[in-house]
Amino acid sequence: MRTIVNGLKLYYVDVGPRSRPTIVMIHGFPMGSEMWQSQIQVLRQRYRVVAYDLRGQGRSETGDGQFTVEFLVDDLIALLDALKIDGAVPCGLSMGGYVALRAAERHPDRVNGLILCDTKSEADTNEGKLARTVSIKAIKKDGVRKFAKSFLGVALSSSALSDRNLVSVATKIICRNRPLGLCATLLALACRTDTSGFLPKIKVPTLIVVGEADNITPFECSNRMHSSIQDSKLLLIRDAGHFSNMENPTQFNESVANFLAAGS
Ligand code: MLT
Repeated sequence: MRTIVNGLKLYYVDVGPRSRPTIVMIHGFPMGSEMWQSQIQVLRQRYRVVAYDLRGQGRSETGDGQFTVEFLVDDLIALLDALKIDGAVPCGLSMGGYVALRAAERHPDRVNGLILCDTKSEADTNEGKLARTVSIKAIKKDGVRKFAKSFLGVALSSSALSDRNLVSVATKIICRNRPLGLCATLLALACRTDTSGFLPKIKVPTLIVVGEADNITPFECSNRMHSSIQDSKLLLIRDAGHFSNMENPTQFNESVANFLAAGS
């Protein structure tokens, strides 16, 4: 399905019973909503599940490539409006978590709970910003496929890297992306705000999950969020790196399902 929000065509899926609470899946960089396939299959049995491709990625349009994380939050809220959803539980992985946290900060009335996966509240350090430039140059010079290989080499745990099917699925998702969209997203990530000061103000039930071998947003980032968010739950996903939902879907899905069943 596609809808126009803020002047751009966004791709999304909207499944599960309309009468049930809504979970909005927000993917990480450089992926797309397809990364949530195994979660959608399970969660749709009990919840309304919306998963969409953020502008610049997957099957959504990029526009002129000039946007920040604030635009990504605007798109999320506009999508909820278009689907007539008053409040939802955003489930965001990494970049998706940055969007979810900022959405909760700007639009607390639209967020009924939070699931923060393999993410952090801190903005990029200078070192992180410089690494964005390295990635942009690599994508422009060598293309998306080569970038996918080097990105997955860092993101996935060693056991996931030896799973040919998983690597092939993740590569396919990344390779759906165009260089312009990926480079634009990297710039948006580099200039995002730090949401750490907002964490103590979060009043909705919050689940934090992180792959035990996450090299990109390691356990300490999640633990810091856990210490700052009142009554939050923190769970370590075994045998998983940065894409914990894809690397250990069984434990990931069980953790999310238990959290939602407890009445987020
Ligand atoms: C992601 O998975 O969304 C990215 O690794 C986030 C980032 O690079 O900051």
